[in-house]
Amino acid sequence: MFEDTKPKSNCKLNQNEAPISEAMDKYARDGALAFHTPGHKQGLGAHERLKRLITHEGLRQEVSLMEELDDLHEPSGCIKEAEALAAELWGAKDTMFMINGTTGAIHAMIFGTLQPGDKVLVPRNAHRSIIGGIILTGARPVYIQPEIVEFLGIAGVLTVEAVRRAVEENPDAKALIAVYPTYYGMAGDLQAIGDILHEHNMLLLVDEAHGAHLKFAQHIEEMPKQALDLGADVVAQSTHKVLGSLTQTSMLHIGSDRVSGERIREAAAILQSTSPNQLLLASLDIARLQMATEGRNRLERAVELGNWLREEINKIDGLYCVGDEILDSTDTFSLDKTRIIVNLTGIGLPGPEAELILRHEYKVQCELSDNNNLLFIISMADNEDTAHRLLEVLQLLAQNHGRGRGEKPVVPVDLLTANEVAVSPREAFYGPGEMVKINESAGCIAGETVTFYPPGVPVLCPGERITDELIKAVRKQQRAGMRVVGPADSTLEYIKIVKPSP
Ligand SMILES: Cc1ncc(COP(=O)(O)O)c(C=O)c1O
Repeated sequence: MFEDTKPKSNCKLNQNEAPISEAMDKYARDGALAFHTPGHKQGLGAHERLKRLITHEGLRQEVSLMEELDDLHEPSGCIKEAEALAAELWGAKDTMFMINGTTGAIHAMIFGTLQPGDKVLVPRNAHRSIIGGIILTGARPVYIQPEIVEFLGIAGVLTVEAVRRAVEENPDAKALIAVYPTYYGMAGDLQAIGDILHEHNMLLLVDEAHGAHLKFAQHIEEMPKQALDLGADVVAQSTHKVLGSLTQTSMLHIGSDRVSGERIREAAAILQSTSPNQLLLASLDIARLQMATEGRNRLERAVELGNWLREEINKIDGLYCVGDEILDSTDTFSLDKTRIIVNLTGIGLPGPEAELILRHEYKVQCELSDNNNLLFIISMADNEDTAHRLLEVLQLLAQNHGRGRGEKPVVPVDLLTANEVAVSPREAFYGPGEMVKINESAGCIAGETVTFYPPGVPVLCPGERITDELIKAVRKQQRAGMRVVGPADSTLEYIKIVKPSP
């Protein structure tokens, strides 16, 4: 059924097996009459639409909580085996399968390592799932400004210098939560950052949502190394974002003995469903099998396609595709070549407009657009045909929709200033709130998160002091057509603040 090749690695376990999917198949074939959940009873009562969507076989195997299907929260059977296979492949001390995306993995990572009141260093361009984890835990964030890549108008990496300063100024901090690599594929010097933290008895927790594939490109010198191989203590990876598992599935890897895997598992058990969807778990297991047997070759191809595209896009008048030259002008330590950042400044076209043109006129969908750039992901699924099509539509975009070089200046990332943290995010979340006009809110403490998508980085976190600059920046982002997420009033006329005490 599966390619019977031995994985090209030092694995001792049989990486050709898929214990979860095998156990599901076995249960379904056993033919026990179902007097148990789920209510569709292995497809018997499922609506035709659901049958078409999941297929007869998928529904037949969509069961959980049977003895042989194991318990996600206290694994001792097929889930334990599947997690052990994943831990071996990625090189972790222990691995947990997560079914609420990397958001859930990050929540468990923070909840399982920090205590209420603990100080934690956080880059200001952290994804909102990190802020959510901090609210859940009751930790106190100290925001660190990431590097700003002015000529692209985006946030870059966390610099070693900024971390050193933050550690010296906050010797009582317990951990740093790094975003590595960034959404745009920029990786900082994580090893140096980890060394500084560990010298000061602090943990390196990593949001590696965009790096689950890096292990399989470790033989390609120019590619960033994965966080687990650079000294990270805990790593949350989005298997679903770049590899072959179903959306919503992620892995949480334990990298060192500085943390308690048991405690993190306890945290994950509080945060995750007691009825995990077996199809999701099986998809994680199968994605691991696929990477064990084909990951290296597939990643080699993805990097080659990325490099070819980069070279060809740079021949298009007005477009600029970011490459390793960025290592000279910024603190980026290495760049993921499977992320294609196309800067549109030279054709004077705003990113969101370009995204809509590509989607509706040429039927190509990018991963994200910001004011100045489009981001495309080349994954292990791509091939020469998909890469050629992308190049073709970018040529058409520049030819037919360009508005002239330099007409539109780069919109700076003025949203990412580290504002004063007046109270902890948790206090702000639970504190008495009040809606006020955002234009009159300068000086107040934010009671909610305001995030523009993409890239999902909060511009305002609960507990931060609102400033005039921030209000202006929010308006600018709104005018640029970015989608706002988080605030109760999505028009942003009003904002929730922490009600000042009388
Ligand atoms: C950097 C980063 N961290 C965490 C997440 C959350 O991942 P998920 O969507 O799997 O919950 C995302 C999602 O886009 C992300 O970009």
